[in-house]
Amino acid sequence: MTPRSFPLFIRRPKLPVMCLLPLLDPFIHPTFRDVFETMPSGDKLRFLYVHSLDRLRLWHKLPVFLGLTYLQQRRTLHERYSLLDVGMPDTTAFDPDDYAYRTDDGEHNDPENSKAGSQNTFFGRNMPPAERKNHLVSPDPAVVATKLLARRSYKDTGKQFNLIAASWIQFMVHDWMDHLEDPEQVVLRAPPLVAHECPLKSFRFYSTKKVATGGEGIETGHLNIQTSWWDGSAIYGSEGKKEAKVRTHADGKLKIGDDGLLQHEVNGIAVSGDIRNSWAGVSALQALFVKEHNAVCDALKASKAFLREEDPRLDDEALFRYARLVTSAVIAKIHTIDWTVELLKTHTMNAAMHANWYGLLGKKIKDTFGHIGGPALGGLVGLKKPNNHGVPYSLTEEFTSVYRMHSLLPDSLKLRNINTDPGPNKSPEYLKDIKMEELVGIRGESTLNEIGFERQVVSMGHQACGALELWNYPFFFRDLVAQNVDGTERPDHVDMPVLEIYRDRERRIPRYNQFRRKLMLIPISKWEDLTDDKEAIETIREIYGDEVEKLDLLVGLMAEKKIKGFAISETAFVVFILMATRRLEADRFFTSYFNEKTYTKRGLKWVNTTESLRDVLLRHYPRTVSKWMNSTSAFSVWDAPPNSFNPIPLLLRFPS
Ligand code: HEM
Repeated sequence: MTPRSFPLFIRRPKLPVMCLLPLLDPFIHPTFRDVFETMPSGDKLRFLYVHSLDRLRLWHKLPVFLGLTYLQQRRTLHERYSLLDVGMPDTTAFDPDDYAYRTDDGEHNDPENSKAGSQNTFFGRNMPPAERKNHLVSPDPAVVATKLLARRSYKDTGKQFNLIAASWIQFMVHDWMDHLEDPEQVVLRAPPLVAHECPLKSFRFYSTKKVATGGEGIETGHLNIQTSWWDGSAIYGSEGKKEAKVRTHADGKLKIGDDGLLQHEVNGIAVSGDIRNSWAGVSALQALFVKEHNAVCDALKASKAFLREEDPRLDDEALFRYARLVTSAVIAKIHTIDWTVELLKTHTMNAAMHANWYGLLGKKIKDTFGHIGGPALGGLVGLKKPNNHGVPYSLTEEFTSVYRMHSLLPDSLKLRNINTDPGPNKSPEYLKDIKMEELVGIRGESTLNEIGFERQVVSMGHQACGALELWNYPFFFRDLVAQNVDGTERPDHVDMPVLEIYRDRERRIPRYNQFRRKLMLIPISKWEDLTDDKEAIETIREIYGDEVEKLDLLVGLMAEKKIKGFAISETAFVVFILMATRRLEADRFFTSYFNEKTYTKRGLKWVNTTESLRDVLLRHYPRTVSKWMNSTSAFSVWDAPPNSFNPIPLLLRFPS
């Protein structure tokens, strides 16, 4: 283990900062004073800048270019203090040119650690695990879930974010992570106080498998059964057998039905990379990106005749490998400059996310001159070398926890009629509600077959997704048929909000306040620091008393006052600042190998000319988009007005 935790390197601060130290002490929140003292002077200045803006709650109200400096400095701090390695590296040497493609299990990406990011490697950590006194059942998870999480009535996100956006992030989660389970089962029982409100009075599930890391420091960890790379494993799988199953083995293509939906086995289970615990919304996105993959194969095959510099052996395997690289990059790009921009809808975040992909110099300069300058000016994509900041790439336990976003889902899909003319703002006529129970798992696949791809996507496009707030966890999740890795159904139903509270505790994720401290965010000292909602405070107090240190992370994330335009909490956002960058920057195929040689000329152009999910939908369903999408982004509610022209350059704008 290489813990890059706080006080690893103690350098003597340079003179001017040292003189100022005693003066600054009262200004620094007491919780950070010890850490601050151990920092080298550059980090001290960085911390002071970030901390001052945090204290004033100001960074998101600054003009865009100043807001970006805050994000940049915060990210640097986290790259130095919030990456803890778990497990031992595999230093077996290999020549990266022998693996100029994404392997089925994610191995051979990082030349210094051939297994980094591959299937069945450890989740890393952004902070030390909580102490064992982080009681598993106190307060009772069923009480927390019932009193604070369970939906009372549907709260949505207005026009900002639709059900495609909710499905998209689940599609990503299925690319990134899934914890290996232990054969041992645990039973949770609802206590009498809430049992009458819990559909399952008790339920059983598999505990997370604890595995010895073989390293010092963090002695046990959990394994990710997906590859942690952003490599499209939700459609390709995370190992060879699965990859072989989803391929047609002709012209590099993947299996897809004539109706544009996933194919199915005789038992009704979809044929795709990851089909576990899914629903019709995710299945539709998987099908769309299978079509995208196959279209890339066609384009590459067609270009072969006149693009002489391309590999003459454009056979099935080569076409598949190129198309996987291209499709994965298209997915990563859409997530970066389309999905996230709608999730965090401010000018600063729009600039920040475009800077991650294109750099501050922007698309035009990058398209014309290639990658110029470092990560800030030229962007992360196309960097000369990947950078893992001294810690082998993995996703982290904390990253999993902040993506617990089941409240994004409604309890039913509002099905639309797409066979009539559009109403105002291209809105389709409402037909009927279809309960989520009918859209989940194996049953969901047959319901989707009846609905059809276009109707499903148009209906999701026109429906706002759920807000990440207290009392908004969907009802249907309280009695859910969970699935095995192969998609078969388990006999034991689970109560998801209860299970999620338990999971974070079981995996030793620090509770909310400690989580904030470890992210260098000012902790709360009373409930009023968390939220202005009186009823929320009253209920939280009923359960946790005045013990702010006991507040569960998921409850804190849902209760926290949000930054204007943000659909998620600031606490979750800070984990993203670090990890969203890392997913691109640590990956050879988004940096040193993001070039024509690796992707082909046609393939790289494909990535460079696809800017959004709208572009992908337009490619495959042009009439659906022009008839039913009024909004600019496919992730905002489709009857929203398109973005209006703003003559002020993005970097010079003020938050609205
Ligand atoms: C109908 C749709 C969905 C179903 C049926 C579903 C079901 C599940 C189930 C059964 C688990 C495993 C629980 C456990 O044993 O710990 C899980 C985990 C998870 N889900 Fe969902 N989910 C859905 C949608 C979503 C959405 C929209 C998100 C948004 C990001 C999401 C994020 C996660 C995350 C982060 C985990 C933890 C993964 C891990 O432990 O490695 N899910 N889900």
